[in-house]
Amino acid sequence: MILFLIVLLPLGYVMVQIFTNYNEVHLYDETDEMASQYATLLAVIDDPDIELLVESMDRGETARKMVIIDQNGNVVEDSGIRGFHPSEHAALQGKAGRFTDPNDHQEYIYAGEQVQGDDIGEVIIFSPSDLMDQSAIQVQQALLLSGVGALLLAFGFTFIASREFSTPLQEMERAANQMARGDLDVEVPVKTKDELGSLSHSMNELARELKRYRGNRQAFFSDVSHELRTPLSYVQGYCDALKKELYQDETERQQFVDIIHEEAHRMNRLIHDLFELSRMEEERFPLDLELVHIGDVTKRATAKLATEAKKKNNTIKVDMEGKFPTIVADSFRLEQIFTNLLQNAVSYTENGHVWIEGSLKDGNIEVKISDTGRGIATEDLPYIFERFYRAEKSRSRDFGGTGLGLAIVKQLTELQYGSIQVESVPGKGTTFTLRFPEAKEGDE
Ligand SMILES: Nc1ncnc2c1ncn2[C@@H]1O[C@H](COP(=O)(O)OP(=O)(O)OP(=O)(O)O)[C@@H](O)[C@H]1O
Ligand SMILES: [Mg+2]
Repeated sequence: MILFLIVLLPLGYVMVQIFTNYNEVHLYDETDEMASQYATLLAVIDDPDIELLVESMDRGETARKMVIIDQNGNVVEDSGIRGFHPSEHAALQGKAGRFTDPNDHQEYIYAGEQVQGDDIGEVIIFSPSDLMDQSAIQVQQALLLSGVGALLLAFGFTFIASREFSTPLQEMERAANQMARGDLDVEVPVKTKDELGSLSHSMNELARELKRYRGNRQAFFSDVSHELRTPLSYVQGYCDALKKELYQDETERQQFVDIIHEEAHRMNRLIHDLFELSRMEEERFPLDLELVHIGDVTKRATAKLATEAKKKNNTIKVDMEGKFPTIVADSFRLEQIFTNLLQNAVSYTENGHVWIEGSLKDGNIEVKISDTGRGIATEDLPYIFERFYRAEKSRSRDFGGTGLGLAIVKQLTELQYGSIQVESVPGKGTTFTLRFPEAKEGDE
């Protein structure tokens, strides 16, 4: 508003000044013109006619007045102008100037012109300054009116704009305070597509993300405590038994110790896996990305599981024929993906086959890890990538699983720009399909 006033007021003032000046100059010119016309006229007409002329002016047929002075500067004729002393005024202001009639306080602009002849010296024409003021006032009024209009408009705009800006900001402030108090059920309305709109959108995203995070954390803690409770109760139970010497012989005592050892080991693994997984989920996981030959990695992973496969009477085979392009990955973490998947395949298969197959499909390297094991029930399939999810809970525990393997696999795959899918026929076998984009030129 202040800015508007700063611009409008001087502008209005200057415009009124310019117009008034223009008007004044115009009126001077007009008066001067008239004076010279009358001077020419007076030079050729006779005295009685002059009197008539002056009289007609005096009768007020025109707003203008006239004064005629002789060679010595004395007034000889006048049409209603009293108190004009040519000697004083001419001395003060020259041939033209302003004059206020002391009788009726009427202001005039006058201009004098020399008359060629013997008797008359000069004719002076008086134009009332009302003539000029009238139009100046009109302009002033117009300017005032438009000024007030502009001001009102500016006021309206300022009001609307500030409300447009402040309402969403106030809403966001309220939402932020609400979030700070721990209430994450906030929804700031997104009304516009501008910066404020996108800020509101971001606020909503933030609330959603925090809510998801909080939900995750709660689920995480309840999962962890639940998962730790089982091995802990085993450890506690068998420790008690040892303390109270509740075993029959040395073999049983050794068995108890083994169980305690195994459960402790399991807890250790669980905590390690959990720690890794939580770091992966928060995307703060350091990866040593390089160009990797996927064939080498699968070979290494398979070698690691050869003995275990043999133990369960499974054959294990890698079919990565042909040359595959490199991918951008962390070879250690990539190997972890394959070992986890192969470990599952071997664990949940008996007297069967486990095999890895690679192929190239429109810029992606596709690797399938298949087994002829017991498969996964259709109702379990959508959940197996969730942490702690185990199909056939009681039995999987016997295989030593914590239910974190596939969650880690999924996180690691996505961190390395890949994707994972699963297909399974219960009783027939399972196939996990990994897809990694081949490295592009300049990726190194
Ligand atoms: N190849 C497979 N065949 C049959 N079932 C599988 C196979 N892979 C995974 N599953 C099922 O999916 C569940 C989740 O697998 P995941 O690897 O995440 O956990 P886990 O093997 O039980 O434990 P962990 O791998 O953490 O030691 C398993 O408990 C198992 O029931
Ligand atoms: Mg597993």
